[in-house]
Amino acid sequence: MKRILSTAAVLALAGLAFAAPARADEAGEKAFKKHCATCHTVEAGKNRVGPSLHGVFGRPAGQVAGFKYSDANAKSGVTFDEKFLETYLTDPKAAMPGNKMVFNGVRNENERKAIIEYLKEAK
Ligand code: HEC
Repeated sequence: MKRILSTAAVLALAGLAFAAPARADEAGEKAFKKHCATCHTVEAGKNRVGPSLHGVFGRPAGQVAGFKYSDANAKSGVTFDEKFLETYLTDPKAAMPGNKMVFNGVRNENERKAIIEYLKEAK
């Protein structure tokens, strides 16, 4: 009996471990669709109004070939790591003055974090 119970506990924990990332992914995809997908995809080489965000996490600004960036972006010298994305996605204009992304930012902290996690996986 004891063994059956502990097996059940292990299975339940394993279930939780698998369930957690799936939920985070879903939240990220949902928030990305809501806030970003009009202008961005996460598919390599597929630009819309904005550049493809495939592999953008951890990369310096302005690297997508064939996309015409503003000077403000191309010469910003920033890297899209966790810390910069957090400020950039909160208020793009304040974080990178003069950039041409016409977007007011994501006010909701949970959505912002979910989008950053989503971008991390988009590679
Ligand atoms: C209205 C269209 C639009 C929306 C909505 C939008 N963006 Fe952008 N985004 C752009 C444009 C245009 C650029 C290029 C900016 C420049 O060159 O100054 C850009 C640039 C970026 C960059 C820099 C990419 C690089 O290679 O340097 C990141 C990162 C980014 N956007 C993330 C996001 C995320 C995440 C969202 C949603 C939370 C979002 N954007 C919403 C249009 C948009």
